Amino acid sequence: MNQIDENWSSIEGDQSLPFAKLRVQYYSAMMQIIARIESLDQQLALSCARNPIHHIEKRIKSFHSISEKLAKQNRSVTIETIRANVLDVAGIRIVCSYVEDIYRVADMLKLQDDLQLIQIKDYIETPKPSGYRSYHMTVGAAVYGIDGKQMIPVEIQMRTIAMDFWASLEHQLKYKTNAMVSSSMRERLHSVAETIWFTDVEMQSIYMDINAIR
Ligand code: GTP
Ligand code: MG
Repeated sequence: MNQIDENWSSIEGDQSLPFAKLRVQYYSAMMQIIARIESLDQQLALSCARNPIHHIEKRIKSFHSISEKLAKQNRSVTIETIRANVLDVAGIRIVCSYVEDIYRVADMLKLQDDLQLIQIKDYIETPKPSGYRSYHMTVGAAVYGIDGKQMIPVEIQMRTIAMDFWASLEHQLKYKTNAMVSSSMRERLHSVAETIWFTDVEMQSIYMDINAIR
């Protein structure tokens, strides 16, 4: 994911200020959640002698992608339609070492009662037909601004290093190359996802066995 790639600057003249303000709110919410996640990582590292989080990525959706998403829903682009219909404007990806780390971090976030739990999609328990596995959690965070308090949604995608490897390459193959992906290619990608899942489970098991004899 790119860092802050665009300033939502594609909007003309005077029209742009309310959107720029909205973007700042999403950015603030995203950074607030990242600070919470980094704190959890450091605290969990003290109790399990390793960092459960391998790395964190973040992005604010480009204005172009937001417009495309709303167009697919036959909606115009306004502050209100963005707020109500695009829940992944602010996106965080947490890449963990082991599967159990994902649930540990997710459980800790759920305990933070000043966050609003908006949506959970567990594609680890129920993978997508493509073979995609990740744990998606959308939370609302309070952002205090000059106009008062706003609850801003942030989408958190959590996955292992192995799941991230698959998702990144599969995304590249499907969307970036613009090539037609045949059903046999899809089957092969699905089969790789299953192999990777086996690897994840086995790595987790080895980790637990080594830990047991330490
Ligand atoms: P979007 O409109 O794409 O946000 O769909 P949605 O609101 O139904 O959300 P969904 O739960 O499908 O998750 C969407 C996000 O998950 C995508 O933007 C991707 O980052 C990721 N994702 C979902 N399915 C796949 C997949 O098959 N392959 C890969 N590589 N990523 C996926
Ligand atoms: Mg999305």
